[in-house]
Amino acid sequence: MIIDGKKLSQSLKDEMKLEVEALARQYGRKPCPMVILVGDNPASRSYVRGKIKATEYCGFDGTLVELPEDCSEQTLLDEIHRLNNDSQVDGILVQLPLPKHISEDKVIAAIAPEKDVDGFHPANVAKLWLNDPTAIVPCTPKGIIVMLEKAGIELAGKKAVVVGRSNIVGKPVAKLLLDKNCTVTIAHSRTVNLPAVCREADILVAAVGKPLMLTADYIRPGATVIDVGINRIPDSTATTGYRLVGDVDYEAAKEIAGAITPVPGGVGPMTITMLMRNTIQCFIHRQNQLHS
Ligand code: GUN
Repeated sequence: MIIDGKKLSQSLKDEMKLEVEALARQYGRKPCPMVILVGDNPASRSYVRGKIKATEYCGFDGTLVELPEDCSEQTLLDEIHRLNNDSQVDGILVQLPLPKHISEDKVIAAIAPEKDVDGFHPANVAKLWLNDPTAIVPCTPKGIIVMLEKAGIELAGKKAVVVGRSNIVGKPVAKLLLDKNCTVTIAHSRTVNLPAVCREADILVAAVGKPLMLTADYIRPGATVIDVGINRIPDSTATTGYRLVGDVDYEAAKEIAGAITPVPGGVGPMTITMLMRNTIQCFIHRQNQLHS
């Protein structure tokens, strides 16, 4: 089975579009997420374009804030403070990675937790790990769980192996799988005999950022494979000069896996759709604060 993230995200966006119309009628304004892009990294620009497109599709009021590559950390922090204090803004997202002279930790910590649509702020990370229902859950991990559930993949009691230990994907998706009663292993670049560890997995999540790294011998027959990687590799036949591949060797893996997400069209669109969902969550939470 191919798990079609593009199709699922389309139907979820259609639902949210109606929800946003109803929210606008109820509260007199639309949810407003702000996306900040620093510099001109082509991959970041492409992700941000996707986010803005989805924002428009769902009927939000959000816009893009662009800052130059050489902007100072203070300029970015000032911009975040401005958006924190703007009552018309519900969500703030700073596209990562940031230029090297800017501290990502400092920037993430500067975002008001109730506007942190990425769920990266320490307050939201703590809430996630403490099972606080008001946590804002990071978009990619949240999208992965929604995909697994919609695809009817049983999770309770199953062995899940997450390859990658980033704060954005690896760690939070491991926590969410644990909440679904999986037995979770977090594997990484230092794991001894990684293929054998991966072959134990009923659910295998690849989030390493290395093109086509997980080959056929990493996959247990019948396993569910979730490929988080979005890697650009040179392709002279493509008009862009590159093509997108995941962390999994899809052509080989699809013959062995019971279910698998493609790249593109798998996890990527779900991440963006969950960002829309988090924006609605922040909007409703802030409106309720206002009226309580
Ligand atoms: N860079 C890679 N993934 C993400 C994400 O989910 N959010 C942000 N802000 N930056 C990213």
